[in-house]
Amino acid sequence: MAGRLVELEVENFRSLRKVSLPLGRVNVLVGPNGAGKTNVLRVFDFLADIVRTDLGPALEDRGGFDELVFRGGDLRPDHIQIGLKGHWSVPETSRCPLDMYRLKINGSPPAREEIFHLSRAGGWRNRIEVSGERAASSQYGADEVISDDGSERRTAVMEVGIQPFSTGLSTLPRLSENFGGREVVALADFLTTFRVFDVDVHRARMPSRVSRSGYEAIADDASNLARFLLTLRDTDEEAWERLQADAIEVLPQLEALDFDYPSGSARSVVVVLRERGLRDPTSLLDASYGTIRLLGLLAMLYDPSPPALTCVEEIDHGLHPQALEILVERVREASDRTQFIIATHSPALADRLKPEELIVCERAEDGSSVIPAVSTAQVEKIVRASEGIPLGELWFSDAPEVLGKATMMGLAARPSGRNRSYEQLREDAARCCADHVCPASE
Ligand SMILES: Nc1ncnc2c1ncn2[C@@H]1O[C@H](COP(=O)(O)OP(=O)(O)OP(=O)(O)O)[C@@H](O)[C@H]1O
Ligand SMILES: [Mg+2]
Repeated sequence: MAGRLVELEVENFRSLRKVSLPLGRVNVLVGPNGAGKTNVLRVFDFLADIVRTDLGPALEDRGGFDELVFRGGDLRPDHIQIGLKGHWSVPETSRCPLDMYRLKINGSPPAREEIFHLSRAGGWRNRIEVSGERAASSQYGADEVISDDGSERRTAVMEVGIQPFSTGLSTLPRLSENFGGREVVALADFLTTFRVFDVDVHRARMPSRVSRSGYEAIADDASNLARFLLTLRDTDEEAWERLQADAIEVLPQLEALDFDYPSGSARSVVVVLRERGLRDPTSLLDASYGTIRLLGLLAMLYDPSPPALTCVEEIDHGLHPQALEILVERVREASDRTQFIIATHSPALADRLKPEELIVCERAEDGSSVIPAVSTAQVEKIVRASEGIPLGELWFSDAPEVLGKATMMGLAARPSGRNRSYEQLREDAARCCADHVCPASE
């Protein structure tokens, strides 16, 4: 994998007033409409845009600072801040300290500050601070700790001028290797490859031109689905066979996937389905909505060279629960190659998750998103207390609240609590809350 994020910290970006989100290989966001799930994905889209176009245009595209900054509370916050921790400069090893990037954007007067902590080959590390019209890079030895303000010992300091509202992320890659230019390039590349994958069913149905240049990644909207699958069949037979077997398992009529060349020449290709009972194959042009979404998602999951981070909005949309079981397995397998942040409203999908893969999102009274609303440790506790209620059922009912209270009150943790049904726990927790009596302390 090209790199991996370990933590995302956000302040005052849309509804994300103060969010600190640990990230694993598979991260599935669940929560009510408007909880802030998509706002998490929008952070990555914003960062990628900053690299491509710089800060000014990226802000303008989103209606400016005032539109983007958290609109809750009595006073408008004076800054937006986004921080990333992870491994992207050098290959991840247990000894390697985390890379860090933090961007602070002030509203008035408009200004930005950035801090990079970047690992370099040979154990060296760079701390780059961008502030006002100046960028300073300091070099640290392998065993030196870089403090947040960079006030400790350092080996060398270099300074360059920079436009006051330009980000180092978009301008520093041009700098020399000693300054840390190469590692900033690694971060910029890492950020621009992030994708929000969203199958455009209309475009994915269409024939695509056959490529002469070999491998091409699946497009973010799966619009090159036919070409991608044809190339996969010709270059990675095992992945192609597995993808086909998954599709056959989920789609009851499907016997095989194949290709047709509608123009007569070999220049344009369309996927066709060989279906049980039908004399002729069905072109994707006539296939069902869920079939095309499923094939698009499988193509993304079997992509041999995906970007470092893949975000998927409402992955369950249009799919049968049985398809979700396979998708969760394939997401886990593909997470060796790409990190996932996925949003869903599907209890059937959440049922198949491990506690550490579930990120519960809520919206507080003051309009801010609470993400994660429940820590992994708490999720694990509640799962244990529920005695086998699947995660999705648990999360899309009132069980977390009831079980959370029951756990806090010691009901679920007491020896007798282990054999209590969820219904009994619900009654006990409700009675405790009404009486303000906790049996654990009796
Ligand atoms: N600048 C802002 N300040 C505060 N809240 C904002 C700001 N911009 C957008 N929002 C809020 O973000 C919410 C939308 O969040 P988001 O789209 O992330 O929800 P979601 O969890 O993805 O919901 P769904 O499940 O419906 O897709 C809106 O209710 C909107 O009020
Ligand atoms: Mg959303």
